[in-house]
Amino acid sequence: MKILVTGGTGYIGSHTVVELQNAGYEVVVIDNFDNSHPSVLLNIEKITGKKVVFENIDIRDKKSLREFVSKNKDINAVIHFAASKAVGESVENPLKYYENNVGGTLNLLEAMQENGIENIVFSSSCTVYGEATPPVNEDAPIMLAQSPYGNTKQICEEVLLDQTNASNLKTVSLRYFNPVGAHDSALIGELPLGIPNNLVPYITQTAIGKREILTVFGNDYNTPDGTCIRDFIHVVDLAKAHIKAVEYLSNKKYKSSYSVFNLGTGKGSSVLEVIQTFEKVTQVKLNYKIGPRRGGDITQIYAGCEKAEKELGWKTERDLENCMKTAWDWEKKLESLLIS
Ligand code: UD1
Repeated sequence: MKILVTGGTGYIGSHTVVELQNAGYEVVVIDNFDNSHPSVLLNIEKITGKKVVFENIDIRDKKSLREFVSKNKDINAVIHFAASKAVGESVENPLKYYENNVGGTLNLLEAMQENGIENIVFSSSCTVYGEATPPVNEDAPIMLAQSPYGNTKQICEEVLLDQTNASNLKTVSLRYFNPVGAHDSALIGELPLGIPNNLVPYITQTAIGKREILTVFGNDYNTPDGTCIRDFIHVVDLAKAHIKAVEYLSNKKYKSSYSVFNLGTGKGSSVLEVIQTFEKVTQVKLNYKIGPRRGGDITQIYAGCEKAEKELGWKTERDLENCMKTAWDWEKKLESLLIS
């Protein structure tokens, strides 16, 4: 089977390409390196021993995208990662987010329809739930988006639902909780440009000395240790769920042609637990301080994952310790990789 991966050199995309190639799929990748590095392609090849078929395409460039898809009509399914993902940046530059995330998805769906490609796996986010009582299941209400980024995920889900109803399209929308960690080889991982916003890259960059100190954003939340609780899921577990989603579509296991799944561990961990786990696993003392709350953070969220287990036959295999170990191994190896 031939799978098109948009955004296949990004954090989750690259890990998914590895799992697809290892599972024997023929993979074609498009990306514009907006938030990734060309070296990722070589590093994927080092892991899998297989060449990555790649084309540099910006999904906003409708003409190039259409040309590419029409040359690859034999694609069986698309896994659509290509999108911008920084919440803060989306508040400052919403048009970039609507154009890239929503406009890009429209271009992709149009090209798929023109060429009779009927299966798509979409990269969504638990951000669609806003503040809900955990564990959060797929039938929890969608809340008003707190950022343009979050809104683009909601809009894309609606667009996909409408297009699924109106055509032969079959869709699986995967709502990720907090993806962390890196590949065991430490050849691919998260590559934040500039100062990271997310907790785990900030931890590893502080531990290695790129950042002076980590600020814990608030310890006065209504949780056991006062810090926020999230569901941290290993990126390799997450990547494997995409293979299950492709199988689900190609084996026509679905009850409805539009399906949504949460991808999380089902377990919440607090910010302080993450720090303690990092220190335990790596034996590195982390320089951190407690600071004020960050605007827009919710107190706690973690996934209800029964649906993914029952219908996709998928559940996580790795724990927080493995997330921290692999994230740290990746951070340590990162500089040498970028130079080579
Ligand atoms: C955000 C996005 C989510 C996206 C995820 C991964 C929203 C509301 N959130 O999740 O959609 O999937 O990133 O890209 O859209 N923290 C600190 N210090 C730091 C950094 C973070 O204490 O330096 C805390 C935060 O306050 C939060 C927790 O760590 O409580 C996790 O933060 P972060 O990694 O940024 O992820 P989310 O905000 O949960």
